[in-house]
Amino acid sequence: MEILRTVDELKTAAANAVAQGKSIGLVPTMGALHAGHLSLVERARRENDVVFVSIFVNPTQFNNPEDLKTYPRTEEADCAKISDAGVDFAFIPSVEEIYPEEDTRVFDLGEVAAVMEGPMRPGHFNGVAQIVSRLFEWARPTRAYFGEKDFQQIAVIRRMVEIEGGFNGLEIVDCPIVREEDGLALSSRNVRLSADARMAAPLIHKILAKSVNFAKDHSVADTIRFVTEELDSHPLIKVEYYSIVNPLTMQPLQSWGDCKMAPQGCITAYCGDVRLIDNIKYNH
Ligand code: PAF
Repeated sequence: MEILRTVDELKTAAANAVAQGKSIGLVPTMGALHAGHLSLVERARRENDVVFVSIFVNPTQFNNPEDLKTYPRTEEADCAKISDAGVDFAFIPSVEEIYPEEDTRVFDLGEVAAVMEGPMRPGHFNGVAQIVSRLFEWARPTRAYFGEKDFQQIAVIRRMVEIEGGFNGLEIVDCPIVREEDGLALSSRNVRLSADARMAAPLIHKILAKSVNFAKDHSVADTIRFVTEELDSHPLIKVEYYSIVNPLTMQPLQSWGDCKMAPQGCITAYCGDVRLIDNIKYNH
């Protein structure tokens, strides 16, 4: 695996692949790689001739400076993992390399960014659009891979791709959440959980899964209340929001009949002082 530190190196590697008619799979990450990321890498490896993984803790998507400062950085271990997984190129730039000047672009991300994480983390999705659009422009991927744990992020990235003209037919590939055996969704933030919070955290998925059954004979509002009350009754868990949304528009449903596709429940909850997100599909 070759490590690329500059944008020029990335552009050259991508141009060489394109010139040889090779398909490019890109897995954008912020590092601290776990089995969830590796599942994206494995899929990218299966589906493309050349695989790029970017590792960059993107400052423009953090609205909390403390979160940016304490975000886990584990470059050496990350490189070992993706090299073993057969990645061709790791793009690991500095902040100055990506943003020699401030990125002042404001993306019109529309309704998909106007709810849930949008208002909760002002500027977050615009920052994601800033970095991901640059990566797409430079790495020229045929396919780009994202995990469904960040369910709303995928909708935002699809919207960004649409308003930026499609990046030459780039396909956004969404990949299922990978969970610990006890159900906790894998996240780079899990390492910050205290021992007690780690024991409590699987309850989030457990209650979401239980709510799928509950929802069969209850309304959307009752299902939201069920999830929120069950989780809030645990002393270490505090739900920030639970929304049941249309999986394409991210707009909250008033009733199950509002949506022709399977609705998605999206949750953000504090477990101790760590903010976790997760989601689940309903069968309606
Ligand atoms: O999901 C993430 O890790 C980040 O938001 C992404 C897509 C790599 C952009 O920095």
